[in-house]
Amino acid sequence: MDVLETEWAAVEGEIGNLTLSPAGRGQGEGAPPSSETAKAEPPLSNSLPAGERGQQALTLATAFHDRLAAIRVLDPACGTGNFLYVSMELMQALESRVIETIQTLGGSAEPKVGPHQFHGLEKNPRAAKIAELVLWIGWLRNRLQDDPDSVPRPVLAESANINFGRHGGYDAVLRMNALGQPDLDNPMIPDWPEAEFIVGNPPFIGGKDLRDRLGSD
Ligand SMILES: C[S@@+](CC[C@H](N)C(=O)[O-])C[C@H]1O[C@@H](n2cnc3c(N)ncnc32)[C@H](O)[C@@H]1O
Repeated sequence: MDVLETEWAAVEGEIGNLTLSPAGRGQGEGAPPSSETAKAEPPLSNSLPAGERGQQALTLATAFHDRLAAIRVLDPACGTGNFLYVSMELMQALESRVIETIQTLGGSAEPKVGPHQFHGLEKNPRAAKIAELVLWIGWLRNRLQDDPDSVPRPVLAESANINFGRHGGYDAVLRMNALGQPDLDNPMIPDWPEAEFIVGNPPFIGGKDLRDRLGSD
C-alpha cells in the first residue's frame, strides 16, 4: 500500500500549495491540513482567489477519496484472508486521514472502503468461508473504532468477493469442470476478478508438500 501512501502524499503536497497563500505563509493564514504538505516554492495556483483555491483543494482530496473507494485488491490464493485483511486495514486507516483532510477543508465525506474491494480466490472451501468472515469482522471492528455512526444497517451487505461469491473452492490455476474438479481433460486458464493490486505469497503449494503433490521427477 506504499503506492497509495505516496500518491496521497503528492495530493497533500498539492493541497498544501493551494491552501498556503504567499501572504499567509508563516503567519498561520490558510494553513495546510498537515505541516508536511507545505512546499518551499510558491506555485502559480497561489495567484487564484482563496475561495477558489480552497475549492480546488477540496476537489483534489475528494477525488483521491473516490479513487481509494474504487480500488480492487486480489489475493489469488487467499487462504483465510490475512493479506486481504491487512490491505483493507491499511486502506481504511488511509481513508480516515483523507476524510480528516476533507473535513479540514470544509467538506464532508463518509467512509466507503469496504470488503467488496478485496477479492480472493481459494481452493480450500473452508478457508474461503473464513476469509469472507475475516474481512467482514475486521472491517466492522475498524469502523466501530473509527466512526461507529457510519456503520450501515444491515451491517452485512451481499458480497461476492471470495471465489466470486460461489460456494466451494476455486482453483486459480486450472479451470474446474462441472463436478468442481480441475479440468485436466481440457486445461484452461480460469477467470480472475479484475484488480488493480495483487497481493499474495506464492508458491501455491507449500514447500513441505511439493514432493508429495508433484512427485520426485
Ligand atoms: C500460503 S497460503 C496463502 C495465505 C494467504 N495469502 C493469507 O494471507 O492468508 C496458500 C493458499 O493457497 C491455496 N491454494 C493452493 N493452490 C491453489 C489453487 N490452485 N487455487 C487457489 N488456491 C490455491 C491453499 O489452499 C492455501 O490456502
